[in-house]
Amino acid sequence: MNLILMGLPGAGKGTQAERIVENYGLPHISTGDMFRSAIKEGTELGQKAKSYMDAGNLVPDEVTIGIVRERLGKDDCKKGFLLDGFPRTVAQAEALEQIMSDSDRHIDAVLYIDVDQNKLLKRLTGRRVCSNCGATYHVEFNPPKEPGKCDKCGGELKQRADDSEETVSARLEVNIKQQKTLLDFYRDKGYLRTIDGNQHIDEVYDSISHILGSFP
Ligand code: AP5
Ligand code: ZN
Repeated sequence: MNLILMGLPGAGKGTQAERIVENYGLPHISTGDMFRSAIKEGTELGQKAKSYMDAGNLVPDEVTIGIVRERLGKDDCKKGFLLDGFPRTVAQAEALEQIMSDSDRHIDAVLYIDVDQNKLLKRLTGRRVCSNCGATYHVEFNPPKEPGKCDKCGGELKQRADDSEETVSARLEVNIKQQKTLLDFYRDKGYLRTIDGNQHIDEVYDSISHILGSFP
């Protein structure tokens, strides 16, 4: 299955992606994670992306499309993939259509996690991420068993650099603007499947697996 996870910042893309990749064995391609690793490693890509991410803006299309094109060309993506946080602009979506048709593939579904906007600020500012394995928690909605420690690997939980209240507001504004046209793009193509992301994490996953169960 070639899948796209869509939703505003804090909608639960990363949280659901962890479960989908575990149960369906798909490679998880998160452009946000790719940029964060590049920043950590101090690569040229990281240097390009950092100022945009710190300001809550989108990284330019040509940079983002380039890394996704390269990643989708790898062997592990030939049998399917889960894109998380890409595409985010119509230019990125059109580039993806081209990458798919050039390699005789197509997108099976766009899973859109729809959450009331007034919930997102709290979700993002309360998020904590494992510095070792990347697992995602929330201080209130999905707390670890031991405060500050990852349940899976014991790693230290940290707040993401762009989860400050100030940057979150900028991220939401930028993404709300882009998302509307992108939803229309995928609705017109007939790929769009909307999931109620206001439910509990387990129920959101149940809705997703119900949809995925209808694919051969
Ligand atoms: P990215 O890392 O993709 O961030 P994002 O889209 O802002 O999304 P998030 O990771 O913040 O949210 P999420 O939906 O994954 O939510 P999560 O599951 O963690 O991108 C970061 C930056 O990189 C961008 O700002 C941009 O600069 C750049 N970038 C990335 N892709 C790009 C692209 N294609 N083009 C250009 N630039 C790009 O959940 C959030 C919290 O809520 C967690 O604490 C979680 O535990 C909790 N939670 C989850 N589900 C529920 C639920 N159902 N109920 C209650 N709490 C929940
Ligand atoms: Zn961990």
